[in-house]
Amino acid sequence: MFHSTLLYTLPVALLLARTVFSSPANEPSVIDEFITTQGNISIHGIIANMGPDGAKAPDAPAGIVVASPSRSDPDYYSTWTRDSALTYKALIERFIAGDTSLQTRINEYVSSQAYIQGLSNPSGDPDSGGLGDPRFNVDRTTFTGGWARPQRDGPALRTTALSIYANWLIDHDGQTQALDTIWPIIEKDLAYTVRYWNQTGFDLWEETYGSSFFTLSASHRALVEGTTLAKRLSQPCPGCESAAPQVLCFIQSFWTGSYIDTNINTNEANEAHTGKDASSILSSIHTFDPAAKCTDATFQPCSSRALANHKAVTDSFRSVYSINNGIDQGRAVAVGRYSEDLYYGGNPWYLTTLAAAEQLYDAIIQWSHQDSVIVTDLSLPFFRDLLPSIATGTYESGSSTYGSIISAVSTYADDFIAMVQKYTPPNGGLAEQYDRNTGSPLSAVDLTWSYASFLTTSHRRARKVGPTWGEPTSNTPPTTCLGALACSARITFNTHVTNSFHENVTIVGQLDQIGNWGPENGIRLDGSKYTSSDPLWYGDIDLPAGTPFEYKYIKWTSSGEIVWESGSNRKYTPPLECGSSGIVNDLWT
Ligand code: NOJ
Ligand code: NOJ
Repeated sequence: MFHSTLLYTLPVALLLARTVFSSPANEPSVIDEFITTQGNISIHGIIANMGPDGAKAPDAPAGIVVASPSRSDPDYYSTWTRDSALTYKALIERFIAGDTSLQTRINEYVSSQAYIQGLSNPSGDPDSGGLGDPRFNVDRTTFTGGWARPQRDGPALRTTALSIYANWLIDHDGQTQALDTIWPIIEKDLAYTVRYWNQTGFDLWEETYGSSFFTLSASHRALVEGTTLAKRLSQPCPGCESAAPQVLCFIQSFWTGSYIDTNINTNEANEAHTGKDASSILSSIHTFDPAAKCTDATFQPCSSRALANHKAVTDSFRSVYSINNGIDQGRAVAVGRYSEDLYYGGNPWYLTTLAAAEQLYDAIIQWSHQDSVIVTDLSLPFFRDLLPSIATGTYESGSSTYGSIISAVSTYADDFIAMVQKYTPPNGGLAEQYDRNTGSPLSAVDLTWSYASFLTTSHRRARKVGPTWGEPTSNTPPTTCLGALACSARITFNTHVTNSFHENVTIVGQLDQIGNWGPENGIRLDGSKYTSSDPLWYGDIDLPAGTPFEYKYIKWTSSGEIVWESGSNRKYTPPLECGSSGIVNDLWT
């Protein structure tokens, strides 16, 4: 059996490439050959879609990744923060594993992202929400067309990709580049994540407005690895350390008891949406930590929750696509985004089918590291599909049941690759989707993200993993969440207002907490310390951390008439840290 003790004694940023696992039972040579050929096509497919010299992205400048060369039906000839980050995460892993030819491109990606971060766009200015804009023009200008915005996963995913690179640089005499060139990008992305994680936005599929499990689990990972990176570089990361456990706390609420409900707090009219969605499998593989145990709280690939979810999500596609007809339980099916999807008629996607395989390869890596597989009541149905007579229990490596589990799960994972192989055209081009009835490629051609998924899935099959992101020391949610949609700072307002004994003073302004400018709904301040020499009115108010707002004070006469402060509105931004405090001293104007 494969042992990976070496992995955990090496520096964090060192990525290991080991290919010592015995071949799976399911026609290994056929799958192996496909992986080699399609792996080559995929890396070339990615390079063709990026500047400065990509054959299919002729006008893309250096570092820019085009989502697909398709310029109509659909028009994906743009650059998405998410697609680019996930693609570069795969390339950075490959670079660290030895493909040094990629470093120039990685540095170009870094510069391109620094540039794009500086663009004002329909989601905001660079320091007021603009980092959440999902899509930019290929020539690095703002995309002004109507779009589902903001999408808050982009900054977090970019942090992950760039942190892996920055840690590698620090380990290889590149401290200066990490600090001067990469940290400034990560710092802005983390400030965005700290400030906005608890606000709703559009999900990764650009359809559902609400709280997205994918976005939040990516945010948790980014905050954890960002905190560690900041410490390595002796830089502050305001709010990162306190927000991370709050995000972890919040993501627990997406667990239904049997699967992950991927979007909550939504404004969705579609009651038929179950929330079973392959984006939860993408979350599991994106937050996979090779040093983690099968933690339920972080939905690690081998956790009982993630395995139960894998079954729930993959089963949800069994009866909806005719190309899945007649496929038995325990055999792979074509996997789409979610079963109720209507985009291009609702079809399987290459990247989600590959993700179903990747989660299983990740789980195998984790079990091998722990030398055991634990089957719980929750994961039992998943395992029963593969091994009908298996019971709950702990199976140590070396036992025959352990061997049977690993072999059955590898065969099952390979079966998802075989599904992709079956519906990949002879030239190896991976589009976005394949037809639910015929299996023919559909929607955007040469989707960069499809190719990147092929690379990461085949890396995991070959036991190649990235560095730990710190899951083992940040996987315990606090016992009480500060509130699903609230992370607040307690602000003390001290204002000096000379008025008379029976009058009152309130504060009112731009936030719900201070009445949304409705004079009647403001917060009444305390006058009990008022003296003629120190006419103090004060109050402690919990306000959303890191959110700038405007306000004013109002005097109330004893007969109920109001007097607003003169002049322009006051402005204040509470500190970013959840649970922090601040003091504001004002003088009535
Ligand atoms: C709706 C799709 O479902 C979404 O994923 C896509 O990004 C947009 N249309 C634009 O193509
Ligand atoms: C539509 C997908 O739903 C979205 O996740 C992706 O970022 C864009 N297409 C671009 O590939």
